Amino acid sequence: MEDRMISGELQQTDQDIELSLRPETLKQYIGQERTKQNLRIFIQAAKMREEPLDHALLYGPPGLGKTTLASIIANEMGVQFRTTAGPAIERAGDLAAILSSLEPGDVLFIDEIHRLPRSVEEVLYPAMEDFCLDIVVGSGPSARSMRLDLPPFTLVGATTRAGLLSAPLRDRFGVHSRLEYYETEALCSIVERTADIFHVEIDFNAAVEIARRSRGTPRIANRLFKRVRDIAQVKGESIISLDTTQEALEMLQVDAEGLDYIDHKLLKGIMDGFRGGPVGLDTISATIGEESQTIEDVYEPFLLQIGFIQRTPRGRVVTPKAYAHFHREVPGT
Ligand code: ADE
Repeated sequence: MEDRMISGELQQTDQDIELSLRPETLKQYIGQERTKQNLRIFIQAAKMREEPLDHALLYGPPGLGKTTLASIIANEMGVQFRTTAGPAIERAGDLAAILSSLEPGDVLFIDEIHRLPRSVEEVLYPAMEDFCLDIVVGSGPSARSMRLDLPPFTLVGATTRAGLLSAPLRDRFGVHSRLEYYETEALCSIVERTADIFHVEIDFNAAVEIARRSRGTPRIANRLFKRVRDIAQVKGESIISLDTTQEALEMLQVDAEGLDYIDHKLLKGIMDGFRGGPVGLDTISATIGEESQTIEDVYEPFLLQIGFIQRTPRGRVVTPKAYAHFHREVPGT
């Protein structure tokens, strides 16, 4: 029996658990109360009218649950969830193939929708507005345009910043939802839920510690949790303790505010190289060797949120609050 447990097919692997970490209903989804409340009503109304939900745009920093929310929308509507990403659709024909394979009511999720090529975007406009495809058959003088009907569907688009989307595309979404960084309390519940799914016990204070240091982001909280769990396991700890958690976070170079190695590199780069700024994004990018777009979409939003940097017309500035975090004097004071 013991052998079966280890080698048998019934063994639940971390990969299986990874899939079940994703909440499947709005009720299971923790946090983002405003977005959930809106979606609940829009979904209920669409179901009462027996229509697909209006196209929805979800935007916000990475790791806050845009994909999860999109799959929940499909689940709550009782339809199929089809998923793709902007960079994966290179030609208009790729999108036409996806759209014409949809079943009535399906949710089509396009991640990183701001990265759709312009020629593809133009196919999307009539598809979103009138559920039809305008395709050109033939070429030269005999070319003609044909209109194909599509089943009604819901497009859910995700992007890190709504401002990256072209205005005509943005305007075709009836629902716009901005996902916010999570409060510590919500993240703590997420960590406890994850521990539960992994059949591991965690001290409440340890869960709070992980939550506090996860930069408002469930993906980071779950990642930190898994590394903390590794260390507890190696130590033979039956309940994950606060001590072990602190030790693990130290090892992972995550500081008290949840800032990691790259955040430090970014802030110290501006403090050391530019007396705290202002300095342009591209200059920072060249100095620390991270892409401007990644800095802007991934690292900067949280540092702005906690007031460690500010954006000014002349560039980025590190604030006195950040200097205090590093126990440094603000230059010229
Ligand atoms: N796992 C990751 N994000 C979650 C969320 N918002 N709610 C519940 N579980 C999650």
